[in-house]
This record gives sequence, C-alpha cells and structure tokens, in this order.
Amino acid sequence: MEKIFVTRASLPPFEEYTKMLERIWDSAWLTNMGIYHEELEKLLNERLESENISLFTNGHLALEMLLEAFELKGEVITTPFSFASTTHAIVRKGLTPVFCDIKEDDYTIDVSKIEPLITKDTSAILAVHVYGNICDIAGLERICKKYGIKLIFDAAHAFYERCTPDLDDGGGRKSVAVYGDASMFSFHATKVFNTIEGGAACCREPGIKEKLDRLKNFGILDKENVVCAGGNAKMNEFQAAMGICNLKHIDEMIFLRKRIVERYIERLEGIKGIILNNYKNNIEYNYAYMPIRIERPAKNNEGISSRDMVYNALAQQGIYARKYFYPCINEYECYKKIYKNPATPAALKISQQIITLPVYPQLDMKIVDKICDIIIKVLD
Ligand SMILES: Cc1ncc(COP(=O)(O)O)c(C=O)c1O
Repeated sequence: MEKIFVTRASLPPFEEYTKMLERIWDSAWLTNMGIYHEELEKLLNERLESENISLFTNGHLALEMLLEAFELKGEVITTPFSFASTTHAIVRKGLTPVFCDIKEDDYTIDVSKIEPLITKDTSAILAVHVYGNICDIAGLERICKKYGIKLIFDAAHAFYERCTPDLDDGGGRKSVAVYGDASMFSFHATKVFNTIEGGAACCREPGIKEKLDRLKNFGILDKENVVCAGGNAKMNEFQAAMGICNLKHIDEMIFLRKRIVERYIERLEGIKGIILNNYKNNIEYNYAYMPIRIERPAKNNEGISSRDMVYNALAQQGIYARKYFYPCINEYECYKKIYKNPATPAALKISQQIITLPVYPQLDMKIVDKICDIIIKVLD
C-alpha cells in the first residue's frame, strides 16, 4: 500500500538543480554569502516587496535572531496554537511567553483579548499567520502603536501570500512581508517553497537587517571587527540554489495546490460535523495546508473523539494526516507548569478538533477522493 503523508517536498526538475551545482564546483564557494545567496536575496526582495530580507539556515533561527535584533525584554504575547518553534524562540531568548487565545473563525490571535494581557513588561506581540490564515493586521498594528511595542509575525506558513491589513478588500493587496515590524518565513522541505532547510526574516527597518546579518555570522562586521555575540545561521549555496530553482515554479505549485484544496472543499462542504477553513476575500492564499475541524462529539463509548476516529481510519488506509496543532503549546510538558496564563479555551477546543489533510502539488485527485470517502464514512 502506497503511504500518503500530509505533505511531500516540491523539487525542481533534476537537471535544473544539477546545472546550478556546476558553478558551485567551479568556484568552490559553498557558503558565507556566496553568489546564489545574494541572488536569492535579491529575487525574494522583489517577490515579497521587501527591501530588507535576510536569509537563514532555517526559519526557527531567523525567528530567534529577530527577537534578539529588536533587543526585546520581558514578556512577548503570542498564541499557543502554533508549531513549537514560535514559543521556543521566545523562551530560548530569555523572554516570557504570554499566551493569548485565538479566534475560532480563523485560528489567529484574538485581538479583542490582547489588551488585558499587556503589562509594563510587554515588549512585543509575536502573532502567527497559522495555515496561511492572515492575522487581523490592522487591529494588531493599532494595539502595538498604542503601547509602543513591536509587532512581529511568524509567517512560516504564509510565504508568497498577499492581503489587505483588514477585511476590507478594496484592492491594494500587498505582500504579507510588508506588515508589522518584521516577518519570519520558513523554507523547510515541507513548505510551499523550500530551500531544503531555510528561512528568512523581512524587516521594515534596514538597521534590523544589518543586525540580523551580523547575528547570523558570529557578530562579524568585517575582517577586523566583531561587534556582537552572534551565532551561525547562514544559508549555504546549495540551499540558495534550490531556492532559486523552486522560485521559478512557485506560481504553478500554488495553482496545483489550489486545485487540491478546491476538490476537498467541494467534497466536504456541508458534511455534518465538518468545519472547513474560512477563506477570506482579502487574502491571496498559498494553499499550504488543508485543515478541517471535526466537530462531532465522540461516536463510540471508548472516549475516542471523532477527530481521532477520522485520523485512525485514514492511518489504517496508509494515509497519514496530522493533528496540527495538538497539543496546544501551553499544554506542553515543558511549559504547562511554568507559565500560568489565563486559559485559552478556543485554542484548546480547536486543537482537539483539528486535523490537517494531505496537500501537495503532485497529490493524485483519486487519493483526495479516497480521503474524502473515508472521512464521510466515519462521520456517517
Ligand atoms: C508556525 C511555524 N513557526 C516556525 C517554524 C520553524 O521553521 P523551520 O522549520 O524552518 O525552522 C515552523 C516550521 O515548520 C512553523 O510551522
């Protein structure tokens, strides 16, 4: 039985990549801001409408170094409905995460719940565009301006998306990378756009990019000057070459993903017990994920939730959906006793209902139909 996973890395035609390797062999320049690194930075600045992008060896280190570059202190407000990386970055930088609940509508931070969490120690909001669902940017910008705190987006899921800052889609959509003080993108193998491993930070101020460029390279300013205790998080030439190749195919990849997502919607819309992702008019999506919520109470008496029944039924057929994001980060063993924040009931509930279904450009429509048949049968 062919195993189907939730995602599958997008690769360019083999020859396109190997052709680029010749130049690496000729120059023997493998890393440290080589020619492909510079080219990819330029290309991404154009595509993301950003003037200040800095490439990284992965998204997580981009996020950690962003928090460092802003010299944040004290508390950072974030959501528990995300990948471990978001909160880990805050904690690993010696900051305290303060968990705010999410909206049931699109699983992003609930702006109406932020202000009571702000204290004299709050230095930033780290909001997540989870599944590519864009946060209420206008609402977040208003709060950050009022309290003089930074607004940073974990945009790991939102590469290449465009939107307006609020629901008003009166035209004028811009790249998500231009909003807030900075955004982090992940180019991990499983993402819409990959550089094998990789990531980037886009920032409003050129000074922050300069700091990031130092931080990711041991704090080195030039041959004789080291200006801060940086680490090592540089993107190498093989990663950058993969990025340049993959970027040529990004529009086609997103188009193919969209077809898959549309088929899921067509098949699952209106099925009792299923809540589909809420796609909004002001956002151009990248269709990175296919999250659905299974809302029905448990069908059997063994305490297995309907979500887990769907998950198990798919696994029995060799289809490995994921319970992204379960458990919530504030339920993790390493955090639940330390950070006693107000409860986050919406995040908790959604994490118990959510399941993300396989989506990748090459996914066969027959498999999509099979997945839908299995889900519908379980819920029948
Ligand atoms: C929401 C979120 N934030 C951060 C990351 C970290 O990115 P990376 O895997 O590139 O380090 C991920 C990665 O998968 C993610 O899903």
